[in-house]
Amino acid sequence: MCGIVGYVGKQKAVSILLEGLKRLEYRGYDSAGVCVLQGGKLDVAKKAGRVANLVKEAATHRLNGTTGIGHTRWATHGGVTDANAHPHVSSDGKFALIHNGVIENYAQMKRFLLEKGYTFQSETDTEVLCNLIAYHYAKEPAGNHGTNRFLESVRKALGHVEGTYGIAVLCVDYPSELVAARKASPLILGVGDEEYIVASDASALVSRTQNVVYLKDGEIVHLTPKTFSITTLDQADVSPVVDRITWSVTDADKGDFAHFMEKEIFEQPVALENTMRGRFSEDGSTANFGGLNVTAAEFRQIDRFLFCACGTAWHACLVTEHLIERFARIPVEVDYASEFRYRNAPLHSNTLFFVISQSGETIDTLAALREAKRKGYKALAINNVVGSSLAREADGGIYQHVGPEIGVASTKAFTSQIMVGAMVALYLARMRDMSFSDGVEYVNALKGAPALVRQALAQAPKIREIAKRYAKYHDMLFLGRLSLFPLALEGALKLKEISYIHAEGYPAAEMKHGPIALISDKCPSVFFAPAGDIFPKIVSSMQEIKARKGPIIAIVTEGADLPPGLADEVITIPHCHEAVLPMVAAIPVQLLSYYIAVERGCDVDKPRNLAKSVTVE
Ligand code: G6P
Repeated sequence: MCGIVGYVGKQKAVSILLEGLKRLEYRGYDSAGVCVLQGGKLDVAKKAGRVANLVKEAATHRLNGTTGIGHTRWATHGGVTDANAHPHVSSDGKFALIHNGVIENYAQMKRFLLEKGYTFQSETDTEVLCNLIAYHYAKEPAGNHGTNRFLESVRKALGHVEGTYGIAVLCVDYPSELVAARKASPLILGVGDEEYIVASDASALVSRTQNVVYLKDGEIVHLTPKTFSITTLDQADVSPVVDRITWSVTDADKGDFAHFMEKEIFEQPVALENTMRGRFSEDGSTANFGGLNVTAAEFRQIDRFLFCACGTAWHACLVTEHLIERFARIPVEVDYASEFRYRNAPLHSNTLFFVISQSGETIDTLAALREAKRKGYKALAINNVVGSSLAREADGGIYQHVGPEIGVASTKAFTSQIMVGAMVALYLARMRDMSFSDGVEYVNALKGAPALVRQALAQAPKIREIAKRYAKYHDMLFLGRLSLFPLALEGALKLKEISYIHAEGYPAAEMKHGPIALISDKCPSVFFAPAGDIFPKIVSSMQEIKARKGPIIAIVTEGADLPPGLADEVITIPHCHEAVLPMVAAIPVQLLSYYIAVERGCDVDKPRNLAKSVTVE
């Protein structure tokens, strides 16, 4: 969703801002803009469309100042127009503001400001906040209480805001200063060498510094080229903690790959190694987690788990449900975070609450966590982005350690979430009925997962050829059973996200209760058909589709004995342990979706209307 970058320092701000905005493109956006403070005035360049449009527009302005802000907008209030793009400037010309989030009481504030004579150029809630800051600035006599009038006006205005925000503000009267603040929208301060960068995402600042302060909700940071100070909305001083980002700018580059999604698909063997590293017991029979903050004794009291998430992470929850129930024999419920937060679900008293989120900023997932905590439940998070809002608010958790995921369609984060789920299932199983030798076998299977994923990736050339034959279809079904039912959902999600082909995922046997009506030679089905007890049942479902002329792509494991001619295409993945199968099975559907999208000429890394992390409801 919207991205923020702000710069204060010695360098020309515009190039740093535009570079930052390019690095934020992956989050999803529809317009972009920058504002640079120079010669006592605010110079704004903004455009609907891609950052590339903005770069052209910015070249027509002489933007030489060393203080500036930049923004990528994902429309909420008002259409995708140049006027609605950020930054917005107050009607007295004194303030420029960029904003992520939603100001819920903006209409009421707008009425108030219109009565006071402020005017508006856009339909956005952001411009209202910008004028509210100007209003408080005009009201406050200069030099009052020896405080910084710019900072105090922002603080006062924010005191009236209901909703969420990550903002960065410039003021013409303070030519080399910047004020930024957050509430429920991410904001990071990069501490450089006589320069500071604020950004909504580390990728926008990591090329200049790896030293960062993760700002907390309700904090305001005031920057000059040589100093920074953090206070709360209530004016309390905050002692900053400077952290170090463990990845560098090269991790956020595409390298030789055509797209980030392709790079991240092929990174999965390494990503899985990183997720497992240091997390097995010395005797090699169970998993260890450093940051759960739940003792073994407390875990033994848990009768039930509730997992919440959104999108792909929700599919990882479904796989985890299967693995925990299968190996640890503890009931697991999975809910959409967006539903859980409002449906006031009755929860069993000894329930442990878990959320899964790559970004750790998805607003519905955060709200679900808060709701569980409010009810007094311990709430843990499986999360990739270090220092995210979720990581800070959870009672404990497990980091995925897969580095930045830039492709909007989640791939390496998904398989790593399944890996964490498989390790949690192991840990719980070994506290109950799983024997030492079964534990060792399970651990060895997980350790072997990266090699098996590599083998599945070796099918890429074949899958690319299949994709060429299937890119013309308008509808597709994905069918799987047991732990591969969530993979059917994930396969369908991947395909629709990046290629815009309508796709649905179903448990294979449910196909005859409705979706079968769609089957014809125009609607192919992708079947997960691993060898095992249930294989003959899956073959029967395939027969039903074949009888209705539906084309079939079968994803089978080595040794699965498919009747000749039943499937039109066969993709073979290695035989694996049950806990590893979902990770390996993810590879062919990721590759199939990717190559189909490429074949259709889609913008794989920036699919229309989607955002990498959804920070508004
Ligand atoms: C968005 C993304 C999905 C992602 C979901 C949850 O919808 O487009 O790819 O799965 O958010 O994101 P999270 O960061 O919470 O895992």
